[in-house]
Amino acid sequence: MKKERPYVTCLMMTSVDGKILGEKWGTSEKMETLKGKFEQIHEEIGIKAWIVGRTTMEKDFTDFAKPVIKKESPAMDRGDFVGKHNNSGKFAIALDGQAKLGWLESTMDGDHVITILAEDVSDGYLAHLQDIGISYIFAGKNEIDLSVALNKLRKLFGIEKLMLEGGARINGSFLQAGLIDELHQLLLPIADGGTETSSLFEIDPKVKGNDATLMKLENVKQIEDDVLWLTYKF
Ligand SMILES: NC(=O)c1ccc[n+]([C@@H]2O[C@H](COP(=O)([O-])OP(=O)(O)OC[C@H]3O[C@@H](n4cnc5c(N)ncnc54)[C@H](OP(=O)(O)O)[C@@H]3O)[C@@H](O)[C@H]2O)c1
Repeated sequence: MKKERPYVTCLMMTSVDGKILGEKWGTSEKMETLKGKFEQIHEEIGIKAWIVGRTTMEKDFTDFAKPVIKKESPAMDRGDFVGKHNNSGKFAIALDGQAKLGWLESTMDGDHVITILAEDVSDGYLAHLQDIGISYIFAGKNEIDLSVALNKLRKLFGIEKLMLEGGARINGSFLQAGLIDELHQLLLPIADGGTETSSLFEIDPKVKGNDATLMKLENVKQIEDDVLWLTYKF
């Protein structure tokens, strides 16, 4: 049967102990070279639509910009909004159920922005998104149903392949929902050792079951600078 959702490929770079926070690894030239592997392999895999969690978007892309709420906005219906875009298939997608991200323009690094919201966000937030041409989709009243979100990404934007690019909590949510098809882990030659730092998948303990998820190792490739590129299928 034809899948109604995009095929989901997760790409993450980690230390050998599975930690993902690059800012804890230092800024030496060697470290920066290693951290650069993420973008390199992102380009090599070549999937044009990417999604990240709210925390990663604000930290790595929107620079913690505050949400803009349009004053005296009329009541807005809760229909999905597709902003003008150039149909290149390049999308930057945020999982931001509670509308915490601040946006000033409709593209991020040239990719059209789509944000995934819950319905109970404010009218003024939606009015501002429409004013600047950002697309938004609803995926639940006050909580996000990831399957609904993915089906809409396929139906409304024609996204057949989606790159899931962290952080830990969005990855954990997708894992818990059984929505990851493939994992590319870039294993960097780094030992982190932090006990507080995030790892590749983090599932909310309230919903996590007892067992781990089994995967199948599809490919192992040693690339430059002692990095292992591991590919697993779910
Ligand atoms: N090493 C790597 O390859 C790599 C890649 C990407 C990111 N990172 C790093 O990862 C760190 C961030 O990771 P993180 O785990 O703290 O955050 P995250 O996964 O980027 O974002 C988590 C947030 O996304 C929203 N979210 C996630 N799942 C949801 C769901 N099922 N329903 C509704 N909302 C959901 C929630 O936002 P609300 O709290 O607003 O509800 C949640 O707090 C950053 O430091 C970043 O630099 C590393």
